Amino acid sequence: MSNNAITPTVTVIGCGYVGLTTAAILANCGVTVYAVEINQSRLSSIKQGKSFFYEEGIDRLIATGLASKRLIPTGDYAAGVPESGIVFSCVGTPDNDDGSSNLSYVYDAARRAISLMDKDAVFVQKSTVPVGTGKQLQTVFRQAGKPNSYVSNPEFLREGTAIGDTLWFDRVVVGSDDPAAGQQVAGLYRLVEKHRDTIAKLAGLTPPAVPPAARYITTGQESAELIKVSSNAFLALKISFANSIAMLADQTGADTTEVMDAVGADRRIGRAFLNAGRGYGGGCFPKDVSSLIRSAEDHGVKMEVMRAVADVNQSMPHYVINKATNVFGRSFEGSKVAVLGVAFKAGTSDVRRSPGITIANTLAAQGAIVSAHDPAALEEADELHDTILRCDDIRSAVDGAEAIFITTDWPEFVQHGIDQLAAMSGAKLIVDAMNCLDKSAQASDVTYIGVGR
Ligand code: UDX
Repeated sequence: MSNNAITPTVTVIGCGYVGLTTAAILANCGVTVYAVEINQSRLSSIKQGKSFFYEEGIDRLIATGLASKRLIPTGDYAAGVPESGIVFSCVGTPDNDDGSSNLSYVYDAARRAISLMDKDAVFVQKSTVPVGTGKQLQTVFRQAGKPNSYVSNPEFLREGTAIGDTLWFDRVVVGSDDPAAGQQVAGLYRLVEKHRDTIAKLAGLTPPAVPPAARYITTGQESAELIKVSSNAFLALKISFANSIAMLADQTGADTTEVMDAVGADRRIGRAFLNAGRGYGGGCFPKDVSSLIRSAEDHGVKMEVMRAVADVNQSMPHYVINKATNVFGRSFEGSKVAVLGVAFKAGTSDVRRSPGITIANTLAAQGAIVSAHDPAALEEADELHDTILRCDDIRSAVDGAEAIFITTDWPEFVQHGIDQLAAMSGAKLIVDAMNCLDKSAQASDVTYIGVGR
């Protein structure tokens, strides 16, 4: 094992959004990183210098990592784990049908890694796991005769801004019963801080004018686990709160954007994540909320507030369609409708739990003739109903549409603006399910509606 405290060899298990971003960035900090991916097609894509998902700047970092031989993609745990001082687990935690986290990948990765790890190596959990999982894994480690140090180091990066979020982090949380192990992990983030401007240049990203104050927060293991789920749950709560106020705004003539601009101006509240619309999607919020509800129940705690968050969120795509139907004056059956945006948010090709797909499929099920466009995510949108026409550009998607639904706030949709979209299509209704278009700039007489505005 490499005992160099400054640059230990590292293994990252699982090359999803979190794992591949972590591996690519650390490799560009001079760390030797084995990136383990068991999915063969994903692995061969990484070996060719390409991420299997769209994320700005990541391919360049993979390419430079490969060229310097610091980034070593492999399908084999044994390639790097035995010589690694730190092993990150970044495998997926999908949800079970009952909303709980499916931890089979977490346990499988941990068992395989620990059997190969040096006795002084530190196991780091980056996957989002229910509170208490670390303690259970440590029992598994001890039973295997390997009482290695365990650190919970939750990840806060967002898809679409994963590289920037990792380079300019607000906080690093390291939770462990072994403070020295926590410091070793924190040391890697100090390296990231040191190299971040060079890495940003390589990735083609512009550093923020005012970088956030990078805080290092040391906690107990359970607290670190709970910090991650609580952060996501609170952001989801803000969104469902904003959507609840938006529904009241719709009934009363208030404009939710104006309301939230003023509410968010209170520094105790903050403006972020108060944008009303078709609700949250993606690989994190929906499952993290349901997993928190389940994990609380397992400990005898009823989290009614999070149940309400999930219920409001689930209702939003249907709320948008109902509002649009009322304004349209009749059902969309037989009408040509364009849905712009199938990614769960802009800047990513990820379509997991995408509200745009729910809206497109619901409209198709109602008998509308639906065409859909997304700049990055169409290929991955397997869940789109077969009858939906997939269009490679905005123009062909909106051509002849009577109504246009904006379901992801991609810059190209926003730039077109209300008037241009109306002119390109002849549509009589534009439904802005992201509240992203500038209605004050509207000159044409097309009917424009948002959510709560
Ligand atoms: C989230 C967390 O932000 C991140 O810290 C964590 O590590 C993973 O989960 P992500 O899922 O990539 O990141 O996307 P995020 O930008 O948080 O958006 C989640 C969803 O909420 C998207 O569907 C987005 O459109 C929606 N959203 C976001 C709103 O509807 N309103 C808002 O105000 C903000």
